[in-house]
Amino acid sequence: MSCCSGISIPGHMLMSELEELKRRSAQRAAAYVHDHMVLGLGTGSTVRWLIEELGRQKDRQQLQIVSSSLFSKKRAEQAGLWVVEPDVIDHIDLVIDGVDQINPRKQVIKGGGGALVREKILAEEAKQVIWIMDTSKRVETIEDYALPVEIVPFSRSFVQRKLEHLGYAVKLRMRRDGTFLTDNQNYILDVSIPASHTIQDAHEELMHIAGVVETGYFHLDAMCITAGMTEVALW
Ligand code: 5RP
Repeated sequence: MSCCSGISIPGHMLMSELEELKRRSAQRAAAYVHDHMVLGLGTGSTVRWLIEELGRQKDRQQLQIVSSSLFSKKRAEQAGLWVVEPDVIDHIDLVIDGVDQINPRKQVIKGGGGALVREKILAEEAKQVIWIMDTSKRVETIEDYALPVEIVPFSRSFVQRKLEHLGYAVKLRMRRDGTFLTDNQNYILDVSIPASHTIQDAHEELMHIAGVVETGYFHLDAMCITAGMTEVALW
């Protein structure tokens, strides 16, 4: 650990530096948000910076926000933003959200925060999607990362057995006081993808199993904003 406040994380970056990169990517994305828009709000620590930024800006009275999680909803309301329920809007102009991993083809793994189902519903509906991130999220191979899969609790033992039989390693996501529950009151399985599968193969196989609600695999036409130590890149 070095002299400064903040925790060392892989890549010799301090936690405070990482947060600064997240803040920069969120700040850049905020420039694409206009008043009178309907904004789909993602979930996670990078999106938290976006909420702060939008809350600080004074011209956001007409901006309607539909949130992908109860957590982001609460933060947005605390920041003085106008959050609406999905059934009062008829379109989404823009979604801004974070990612867990992204490859050069813009195939994405999400769901680290457990909000993948609502995030996907919003992203698929949006006219435009912007992924925001620090550079550590950009990788060559996303298949090395566990894929979050939301399942109905009743199906847990059936799905887990089936997946293990198909060659997946499966971990039920836990929190300190028990099993992690999504905002939809479902479980998350963090699933390691067999070497023989691409992420897309895995997603398609998983979506055919009864009890699986959705996976954290996203592949959409999106703009990416990646903040590194020296520059913020749009790609
Ligand atoms: C939540 C997500 C998040 O967007 C993803 O986990 C990235 O989070 P962070 O910005 O904290 O790294 O998919 O379900």
